Amino acid sequence: MKKVRRQDSVQEKVFANLDIRANDVEKTVNRGDVLVVIDVLRCGSTIVTALENGAKEVIPTKTIREAHMLHKKNSEFLLAGERKGLKPKGFDLGNSPLEFSFKTVKEKHVILTTTSGTKAICLSKNARWVLIGAFVNAEAVAKTAFEIAEKEKIGISFVLSGTRGRFSLEDFMCAGAIVKNLPADKIECSDAVLAASLTFQQSCRRLTEIIQLGSHGRYLEAIGHEEDVKFCCKLNAYSAVPVFKAESIVLLALGEERTFS
Ligand code: MLT
Repeated sequence: MKKVRRQDSVQEKVFANLDIRANDVEKTVNRGDVLVVIDVLRCGSTIVTALENGAKEVIPTKTIREAHMLHKKNSEFLLAGERKGLKPKGFDLGNSPLEFSFKTVKEKHVILTTTSGTKAICLSKNARWVLIGAFVNAEAVAKTAFEIAEKEKIGISFVLSGTRGRFSLEDFMCAGAIVKNLPADKIECSDAVLAASLTFQQSCRRLTEIIQLGSHGRYLEAIGHEEDVKFCCKLNAYSAVPVFKAESIVLLALGEERTFS
């Protein structure tokens, strides 16, 4: 009997991988995939909203100190972020996507530092492609990630920012929401991706309610950010696809994925 190598049956497909913890991001970068960094509550949703509302760029930093230093050199930039969910002293904005309105961010450069999300993004900087995904842009980011992966014959890897290094339900489910928008017949999912996908499919009709049950959802509500949690659960509200390159997150221009090399 002719032996069928496992690889033969899946050769033409795009592999989708998922790393449960953002601490594993170095391993992910080495895979050479398109990275989709997810932080639903709230960093990723805030970045998508800021760019959708006309911000020129979002510059992520790992620490408050780095953010202050950058702001010192560029005092016209907006200084934004959070620690323990709250706006740090002296900052212009917190990390609520609702603060990043058209009126506030149009044409502005934004420096953003958050507990887990901007760290995961900064740790991904050596990857060739880093996209920012959230529920609010799940469909758009899926289409772009797939287009790049297929063209460059690479995989797609989801990086879950989580909460201070821990697994988070909302980021896991968001990976599932993005997978739902990938062409099923052209994708080969790892078990972790499959689990995210099944979890999302089971729960998508009660998305907000379920995200509110998660530990970070509960925490944000306890400190008065209930509206943020609801907003971050708005599936496909936006078409913005943020891309991180050269230390800055900008909007991926239409067609850029076809010409960017
Ligand atoms: C983070 O990056 O840790 C989060 O966005 C925290 C938050 O909810 O502001």
